[in-house]
Amino acid sequence: MEYLINKKVKDIEISGIRKFSNMVAGKEGMLALTIGQPDFPTPAHIKEAAKKAIDEDFTTYTHNAGDLALRQAACDFVAKKYSLNYQPATEVIVTTGASEAIDIAFRTILEEGVEVILPGPVYPGYEPIIRLCGATPIYVDIKENDFRFTAELIEPYITDKTRCIVLPYPSNPTGVSLNKKELMAIADLLKDKDIFVLADEIYSELLFDATHVSIGSFLREKTIVINGLSKSHSMTGWRIGFLFAPEIICQQILKVHQYNVTCASSISQQAALQALTVGIDDSLPMKEEYKKRRDYLYSRLTDIGLEVVNPDGAFYFFIKIPVSGITSFDFCLDLVEKANLAVVPGSAFSPLGEGYFRISFAYSFDTLKEACDRLGTYLNTIK
Ligand SMILES: Cc1ncc(COP(=O)(O)O)c(C=O)c1O
Repeated sequence: MEYLINKKVKDIEISGIRKFSNMVAGKEGMLALTIGQPDFPTPAHIKEAAKKAIDEDFTTYTHNAGDLALRQAACDFVAKKYSLNYQPATEVIVTTGASEAIDIAFRTILEEGVEVILPGPVYPGYEPIIRLCGATPIYVDIKENDFRFTAELIEPYITDKTRCIVLPYPSNPTGVSLNKKELMAIADLLKDKDIFVLADEIYSELLFDATHVSIGSFLREKTIVINGLSKSHSMTGWRIGFLFAPEIICQQILKVHQYNVTCASSISQQAALQALTVGIDDSLPMKEEYKKRRDYLYSRLTDIGLEVVNPDGAFYFFIKIPVSGITSFDFCLDLVEKANLAVVPGSAFSPLGEGYFRISFAYSFDTLKEACDRLGTYLNTIK
């Protein structure tokens, strides 16, 4: 029966991050810096809100777009933090994680033959959906630009087929963000063009030394803003994301969302309401801790002699492999075998990630210190 399966589905692959972490899972003595999820528990008051939600029978379908009180809280949150202006009744959808928001946004705006411009290296969650829609991902190499995805780099790739530009910042896997000036230049480039911007801002609360700027605050009519609680509130398993867009776009996306999931989990929505009201600053102590780890790693990695761009936010370093003639996959495999250290091959982040590896610092200081020791020793032996 396999021959009857949709060819586009057969052609996509399981994410390289999962593939690699599944491969090394369970290996004795292995230290893994592979997974991109916070290592803190979900704040206690949020967990309590979920328990209360169950006891009080918040266990039925909600409005397709999400509980109105939560939509209000989400709009208030992004208004306060990022000067975004969206109407709770018509311009926000509570989704099953940012992943579902990406899926329903692409399925609403893409079709056969159109092109989507993305930076490379990039989070691997976009390309498969773009391909399932029959659209083509067009990668812009940002490696030589300190991983900054700028208007200048984007412009030559715009054609009459360009339907959307993906702006993920702060970035997974590089941690690099975009500042207001860079975003204004992109907005200026697009102002007379009918091209959507998909701004994936899931790491917006984890920007270390600056305040996050959303392109949706000044390019509102073309922008779909994606955010969520997975990273900011350490809630990856609760599956709560948000999609913000002008009414005419949002109401079309809502149809795809409705026939996809009906609504996000009602219990998680009550937890999210707590997070976005009582817990609006819950990310601050976690951010401070990530920042300390970032500073520690930057000094350790550069001491080892590695070429790194210091991340502005999120919890990743994207590091150049200091030896030539080896693929990132084989390098990472060798690191597993010889140093008992698992990191993610750069090739998991589009072909443009080849030659690099990603480490996540959503791990304790002890783990990070030991990982740097192992990495340093390994590099000394192979050089
Ligand atoms: C850039 C980016 N976007 C979206 C997601 C998916 O987030 P969620 O777990 O809320 O679906 C991730 C998860 O790692 C990510 O790194």
